[in-house]
Amino acid sequence: MTTTVDTLGASVAQHRSAELEQLIRTEPGRFRVLTGDRPTGRLHLGHYFGTLHNRVRLQDLGVETFVLIADYQVLTDRDVAENLSEYVEELILDHLAIGIDPERSTVFAHSAVPALNQLLLPFLSLVSVAELNRNPTVKDEIAHSRQSAVSGLMFTYPVHQAADILFCKANLVPVGQDQLPHLEITRTVARRFNERYGNGTPVFPQPDALLSEAPLLLGTDGAKMSKSRGNALALSATADETARRIRGARTDAERHITYDPERRPEVSSLVLLAALCEGGDPRQVADELGDGGGAALKRRVTEAVNERFAPIRARRAAYAQDRRLVRDVLRAGNERANAIADATLKDVRAAMHADY
Ligand code: TRP
Repeated sequence: MTTTVDTLGASVAQHRSAELEQLIRTEPGRFRVLTGDRPTGRLHLGHYFGTLHNRVRLQDLGVETFVLIADYQVLTDRDVAENLSEYVEELILDHLAIGIDPERSTVFAHSAVPALNQLLLPFLSLVSVAELNRNPTVKDEIAHSRQSAVSGLMFTYPVHQAADILFCKANLVPVGQDQLPHLEITRTVARRFNERYGNGTPVFPQPDALLSEAPLLLGTDGAKMSKSRGNALALSATADETARRIRGARTDAERHITYDPERRPEVSSLVLLAALCEGGDPRQVADELGDGGGAALKRRVTEAVNERFAPIRARRAAYAQDRRLVRDVLRAGNERANAIADATLKDVRAAMHADY
């Protein structure tokens, strides 16, 4: 039953996303995007092809873009946020390297925006415990949590995410399918707030998900590429590190290279990665490799990745020399986010007749 509902929800979101893409191209000024990550490690190629390049694309189309560093949210599935300041810097460097321009986009950390966090309180009053309990993404994260007990933060973080999105009245959130249940909670919060307190003038937009087709890249061990599994190809890796990791990647015993994700997930993921980097078609890459076997495949992938990411890595290395610039980007982003959050909180308190 849930599957039917989920699939239906996803296909509606897909249809809507296609419409939105049209609108974005004609009227980018109508949109404000909010998107973000938890600072839990270096971003990898799965992130790049899944979401990061899409952020730059939206920015470059003229959509106002907010990039959130979800630092408080690191604590949802672990007791301590390790290497936090290092990972925050890495995230900023990754974004600058791929082309996020701090003059046009706002990069900020939610822990530095008190008024954003204060929205959590009225927002929590708008959702029921039962609704939080049945969020499938939370269930999944609880199943994979590193904590021995589920914390209140884990349980309530979709509502915090609503605060992340609504503090700046973002109306567009680029996400993968797994985040759709969270976005549904954000939409519910916005709608209920408007109904309960809006007095005919909505305070919040009901943001849309912008589903991007995230190609599923596997890690070097054949499992989903993930920051915490040690199987990822980092955006910031050197050419040598990349070569070494790809050399060690799992393949299979068949010499003939094909693109067949169902039957040959590891080989196909490598073929796909080469194709993504080259801007080509995975079937054609596989045809060209033919009987070349795993070694030729890995050589091709290594070259493709290193070539595609050379300029990004060079920019990243240059920015990494200038720690002050990185900190300034964050400081300016936090300031801007605070100004917006203060204004929104003022609206919220006025709507709730708490503006004394
Ligand atoms: N939950 C997201 C993740 O795990 C990170 C995140 C926090 C986020 N707040 C957000 C994403 C708001 C989009 C919008 O990756």
